Amino acid sequence: MELRHLRYFIAVAEEANFTRAAQRLHIAQPPLSRQIQQLEEALGVQLFERNTRPLKMTDAGRFFYSHAVQLLAQTAELESMTRRVGKIERSLSLGFVGSTLYGMLPKIIRRFRNENSAVQLSLHEMSTMDQIQALKEGRIDIGFGRIRHEDASIRRIVLREERMIVALPLGHPLSLSKPVLSLRDLLGETVIIFPKSPRPSYADQVLAAFHDRALEPQRIYETRELQIALGLVAAGEGISIVPSSVHGLKRDDVSYMELDDSNLVSPIIMSTRMLDESEDIRAMLELIYALYDEERMEHLPPAEH
Ligand code: BEZ
Repeated sequence: MELRHLRYFIAVAEEANFTRAAQRLHIAQPPLSRQIQQLEEALGVQLFERNTRPLKMTDAGRFFYSHAVQLLAQTAELESMTRRVGKIERSLSLGFVGSTLYGMLPKIIRRFRNENSAVQLSLHEMSTMDQIQALKEGRIDIGFGRIRHEDASIRRIVLREERMIVALPLGHPLSLSKPVLSLRDLLGETVIIFPKSPRPSYADQVLAAFHDRALEPQRIYETRELQIALGLVAAGEGISIVPSSVHGLKRDDVSYMELDDSNLVSPIIMSTRMLDESEDIRAMLELIYALYDEERMEHLPPAEH
């Protein structure tokens, strides 16, 4: 059995159709059917039910599919990691979600560049879900995101839980009435959430914060990104719930208020490939915890990595 057989089998299983699978693989259908037949003969089991439309996998086929997908992901990981190990110049690609730029990310990047001048660092803005795919394909080596996504080939380290705060238009009556707000105080407002897509995103963490407390805001306004949400807040279109580091983004037309519930947090998560033991990743992690300690920032305890 060769890796080619796994790729062909996965395409047929996912498309549930030989013609579409052949198109996806850019090959003709007869050789594809022959390869699947060879695979079934080599394994001595039937992987697809005969004469079903759409094509259905047998129990053995489903078992083979879940392991074949993992095996191919591991192969991609092995390729990209070996390439990195063999490179003369060291490089590290980082994926990050936009909101981490208002937290420690700029400081982390500057310090890493100063201390690791031999490493070529590149930065790519992308959603947490895109980071997972990019890690698996070797396009990035580290992802900084906010979504707790389970994936057997990804190592996830929750660095810290960032408190959520409320951004309101300057002079909004809520900012004059109380020193601290609760989510219940916001139910009559339009809640501006971001990013609208791809989902799940930080927007879903804000929606879950309401739903988990059996609360439902009267109006939700979905927008593309944090900067637009803040602009709309400044224009008096509504309020927005943002990570507390956004507070540093001073605007004279927006005020920020704390929320009374310490469970209203959004995590900052560092993701890497599960098997990637690179020195540069270890250096990055040590540098982040050192910066947290220097800045006396609350964070989760470093695990044994
Ligand atoms: C932070 O704000 O804690 C942070 C942001 C980006 C990457 C790592 C940490």
